[in-house]
Amino acid sequence: MGYHLITGATGLLGRYLIRDLSMAGVPLAVLVRPTRRMTADQRIDMIMGFWDDQLGRELPRPVVLEGNINEENLGLSEEDLKWATENVDYMIHSAASLSFYSTSHESEPWRSNVGGAKKVLEFCKTAEIKKFAHVSTAYVCGLRTGRIMESDVDVGQESGNDYERSKLEAELMVRGSDQFESLTVFRPAIIIGDSKTGFTNTFHGFYAALQLGHTLMQMQSRDETGLLYASSRFTLNGDESKNLIPVDWVSAVMSYIITHPKHHGKTYHLTPLHPVQSRLVHDVLSTACKFYGSRFAGAGVELTDPNEGERLFYDHIRVYNSYWRDDPVFDSSNTQEAAPHLPCPHVDRDLLLHLSQVAIDMNFSWNDRTPHRFGVK
Ligand SMILES: NC(=O)c1ccc[n+]([C@@H]2O[C@H](COP(=O)([O-])OP(=O)(O)OC[C@H]3O[C@@H](n4cnc5c(N)ncnc54)[C@H](OP(=O)(O)O)[C@@H]3O)[C@@H](O)[C@H]2O)c1
Repeated sequence: MGYHLITGATGLLGRYLIRDLSMAGVPLAVLVRPTRRMTADQRIDMIMGFWDDQLGRELPRPVVLEGNINEENLGLSEEDLKWATENVDYMIHSAASLSFYSTSHESEPWRSNVGGAKKVLEFCKTAEIKKFAHVSTAYVCGLRTGRIMESDVDVGQESGNDYERSKLEAELMVRGSDQFESLTVFRPAIIIGDSKTGFTNTFHGFYAALQLGHTLMQMQSRDETGLLYASSRFTLNGDESKNLIPVDWVSAVMSYIITHPKHHGKTYHLTPLHPVQSRLVHDVLSTACKFYGSRFAGAGVELTDPNEGERLFYDHIRVYNSYWRDDPVFDSSNTQEAAPHLPCPHVDRDLLLHLSQVAIDMNFSWNDRTPHRFGVK
């Protein structure tokens, strides 16, 4: 088997892919950019040390290629480019910018999501890599409603933000390229932490609302029960569905499909069979942040007289506006057919409370450099 090269290996999903594909015996290489304080090698060392701690055994190390998806030949040295050309036969492109809005087409998320994807395609041509897995998002469907099929791509939909539009453009570009023998597209919904340990190293989406709620509640004084009365209104009706999926499940399904060539060449919605309802998310937020008294004001209701707490909440959560609504229904027939033995863990109250508590205990931050040992006694 040739090497599989992963972009985005230091991200939330990427680090789980390294773990799962390594455990499946896949020879791996990773494209990683250095930070101001760490080389690409050091960054991967930290991540692998984390997995060794978690698993209680040493995983094989991936070959680390220092680079950047926004540069020609991904910024690889001549030697690394030669190595990749000789050894890599499968590209897993997971790197992306998760910035939702941009100031121009030259800035994020366009630069990495569209410009970077173009450079990755060019690199694959140069290095003669013929198998490609592209990590897109279920939300390339934008603001569509109803049932979204895995075969649907551009049906003239309106996007909810620049991120969704950039991911759609990237997916269209990858699909439009005829250079691959096999192209597999993965479209995850909203990724949350590990269903078993609660770990996450990023705090978007569900966590952003949790962090905001937690911070606002820390600023208030509580009654004798330790709870806080919050007369806030949620501009939803409680029935909206949200598609939350644990990162360990996303990685498990992707790794299974990647290691089973008969499943290559399709598009997979990585979405749960049972989305959560906004009523449950509200219940979890109020329990985790220890407040009561807030209520649903109705979907899309404009608060003409917001109180201080509501004003702060909606000002800060504005970036997620397009997700503050009912999700469409994602058909996931291909995923269910390919991996029926890997059902998505049920995202219920207990799991969301566990994830919330872990995030609060982590103070909504994670730094691979800090020598802390997550969950290891
Ligand atoms: N998180 C979600 O809820 C979600 C949902 C649906 C789809 N997705 C998709 O899933 C994929 C992985 O997302 P994630 O949650 O793992 O994101 P993440 O944690 O933010 O990780 C993003 C990764 O991309 C890398 N990257 C970004 N720009 C790069 C560049 N110019 N050169 C090299 N590497 C670069 C980052 O490297 P650094 O560490 O150096 O910054 C990081 O490794 C993305 O394609 C995303 O669009 C995510």
